[in-house]
Amino acid sequence: MSEFILFAHRGASGYEPENTLSAFDLALAMGARWIELDVYAVDGELVVIHDDRLERTTNGTGFVMDKGLSYLRSLDAGKGQKIPLLREVFDLVSDRAGINIELKGSGTAAPASALIAAAITARRMTAEQLIVSSFNHKELLCFKAIHPEIRIGALVSGVPRRSARFAEKMEAYAVHAGMNIVNRRFVADAHHRGLKFFVYTVNTGEDLKRMQDMGVDGAFTNYPDLFSY
Ligand code: G3P
Ligand code: MG
Repeated sequence: MSEFILFAHRGASGYEPENTLSAFDLALAMGARWIELDVYAVDGELVVIHDDRLERTTNGTGFVMDKGLSYLRSLDAGKGQKIPLLREVFDLVSDRAGINIELKGSGTAAPASALIAAAITARRMTAEQLIVSSFNHKELLCFKAIHPEIRIGALVSGVPRRSARFAEKMEAYAVHAGMNIVNRRFVADAHHRGLKFFVYTVNTGEDLKRMQDMGVDGAFTNYPDLFSY
């Protein structure tokens, strides 16, 4: 059986402000082998933030994609942290953990491709170290067309009528789904099609056991220290 994967969801976001360098740093210190983060494209850079608006996690206001990079970088994303750039996370993590990059905004596939290509060429990172995921399957396919060697994860918010068929058609590596929609049949269908199944957001041992009993291959957690590696 292959190894169960635990992703530190938005870093060790149960302890440090989500999607900040301190959250990723702590996740690594806790022994996380994979981290997950969310990106939007702004002024040709990828900024690491979850919401499309700034209010919940920063002292800014408005939509992320309506702003310029200098404004976004002037904000406090919690405990004095800046909204990180994806390139800064690459520098921090280097070869120490895998990174699941979730493409949130439109227009993220091209800058993500360029940044990943540069990191791989410079031998700072490898294709095996990365999984690119998105609810936006158009953006994901756009990314895959440029980087067929990098694994993609197809996120879904509900169980599709034909289960995991959509992900197989996309030649995805995995289906990523919320804990509330996971069921044995969906997981088994993904496996039957040669896909992995990863579930979010699992923050208790009880939920982890329930998900593992359903056969999932990995889970996203805000508390990467709660589970052993
Ligand atoms: O990538 C898994 C999970 O992060 C997807 O949902 O809303 O937390 O980005 P969300
Ligand atoms: Mg995410």
